[in-house]
Amino acid sequence: MGVDKKILVIPGDGIGQEVTAWGQKVLQTIAENYKHNFVFEEGIMGHVAIEATGNPLPDETLEKARKSDAILFGAIGHAKYDNDPTLKVRPEQGLLKIRKELGLYANLRPIKLFDELLEASSIKPEILRGADILFFRELTGDVYFGEKKRSEDRNTASDLMIYHRYEVERIARKAYEAARSRRKKLCSVDKANVLESSRLWREVVQELAKEYSDVETEHMFIDNAAMQLVKDPKRFDVVLTANLFGDILTDEASQIAGSMGMLASASVGDSTGFYEPIHGSAHDIAGKGIANPLASILSAALMLDISFGLKTESLRVIKAVEATLKQGFRTMDIANKHTENHLVMGTDAMGAKVLENLN
Ligand code: IPM
Ligand code: MG
Repeated sequence: MGVDKKILVIPGDGIGQEVTAWGQKVLQTIAENYKHNFVFEEGIMGHVAIEATGNPLPDETLEKARKSDAILFGAIGHAKYDNDPTLKVRPEQGLLKIRKELGLYANLRPIKLFDELLEASSIKPEILRGADILFFRELTGDVYFGEKKRSEDRNTASDLMIYHRYEVERIARKAYEAARSRRKKLCSVDKANVLESSRLWREVVQELAKEYSDVETEHMFIDNAAMQLVKDPKRFDVVLTANLFGDILTDEASQIAGSMGMLASASVGDSTGFYEPIHGSAHDIAGKGIANPLASILSAALMLDISFGLKTESLRVIKAVEATLKQGFRTMDIANKHTENHLVMGTDAMGAKVLENLN
């Protein structure tokens, strides 16, 4: 028996427009092949929404989001704002607001290398082979949402790094539960040697560690974790960390998966799940049709699994991506400089290959 689901698609800015179309097509194809009924709606957010309405997250988009079973999002941001820090209304505010409004406090970022991409990373293959990490990045607290201040003379600024016990506890629980179904190792990353909010973080995780004594808990400082991640990525299983640390560490970790263009993420919490590539809007390549659609396609796979419980369908998508890579098809970002037998193609051609492999 098929399932009925309402999916909100928010392509957003830059390459989000190009790649999200493929995440959606993959979902549509899965629906047809497995007799599910997915109804798609579209919403605007980010720079495109500012241009159209003056608001990076129009109420209409938020309303649609609340009514949907899952959201597929593309990317956010525009060069205009990056070059002008004085602009008050900014695309990223839309993304932060939707995360907060929907209570999406846990951001899951799985880092797994397809064997075919061993050579695409800037890290040596022997260090990478077998690495498989699941990041739990806290997503609705920290400096991202703490009070922001600017002095009257504009010469002093601050962002409050703040955590409450319940915020640490709820994401830590999710991370521990995931560790139980994996290799039973959890590394909590903080800066407890300096930051009070990190000391609270560590205290809470230490308490939970007793409850989850079947999971091996390790605490690591963020600076050391940043180093260990490229030195020996295989030592990590589940990594639990705060919002800002997680933002930075997962961009770094994307090199373990070959490219930012490969990494999908799931943001979950109280209700509707939100699925998005970890890459940004990439203005430098936007509109050129060369962006990698695989992160969006893999985000769709995460949606099938996590929000809809459709494990077989999710695996089918991952297999189709794997098959496409095995056939030698590559977008520019994952093209292997060392061998000739790869066919480098654009976004649409690559997306079409994955669809072929789904059928
Ligand atoms: C991410 C992004 C966002 C973040 C930006 C676009 C606000 O970098 O999802 O990792 O910092 O959370
Ligand atoms: Mg980021």
